Amino acid sequence: METLDQAKKMAGERAADFVENGMVVGLGTGSTAMWAIHRLGARVQEGLNIRAIGTSRQTEELAREVHIPLVTFAEVKELDLAIDGADEVARDLSLIKGGGGALLREKLVASSARRFLVIVDQTKRVRHLGQFPLPVEVVPFGWELTQSRIEKKGCRAKLRMKKDHKETYMTDNGNYILDCDFNEILDPSSLHRDLKALPGVVETGLFIDMVYAVIESDGIDVSIEYNNPYAE
Ligand code: A5P
Repeated sequence: METLDQAKKMAGERAADFVENGMVVGLGTGSTAMWAIHRLGARVQEGLNIRAIGTSRQTEELAREVHIPLVTFAEVKELDLAIDGADEVARDLSLIKGGGGALLREKLVASSARRFLVIVDQTKRVRHLGQFPLPVEVVPFGWELTQSRIEKKGCRAKLRMKKDHKETYMTDNGNYILDCDFNEILDPSSLHRDLKALPGVVETGLFIDMVYAVIESDGIDVSIEYNNPYAE
């Protein structure tokens, strides 16, 4: 296994250790979260009793495959723990997410969890957010107008296409994604507020003040950084 995959696997599997019997767990999306889901599936086979909410159709499918029981927000209002990857993690533990297109559901799930655990390999750590183009979910109607309004905030906003480059990528919620290249985001909170204030913007991939801990691996070791060790 490549070192990067090994790092994702180690971080994902370590996160699964935080899950306890009876918990309701948010399951993230992406190649790191996948390892946590597989490990949780194995623990369910060994008798762990949990319920989960997935952050994408893809994740729901994987959860079903590994026999993790799924629930919806009609049944639960609060999660004990959410586990998810990230595209960038800044020093203050603010994040860019949405590389996989699931940012809206990911934010709903993370914001309803008492603890949000972020799992990353060491390549995701940055000094300032913004090298990774910020995914912004927008409604399809008038997206060109929303695009030009977003670009006035200081970026180039590119409409995400499917892998074949022919069709527009559509989120699980029926929206589009604009990948916004800001290069450097020095004030994530105010940028998030400005973008959210635009009609047509559904959600941004900026996750601020949400993280309980970051579990990071380089493929050899795993380290855990708690956001606020006194917060319970
Ligand atoms: C999905 O929409 C994203 O927020 C992912 O959590 C993020 O892209 C990290 O994915 P990887 O674990 O595949 O790098």
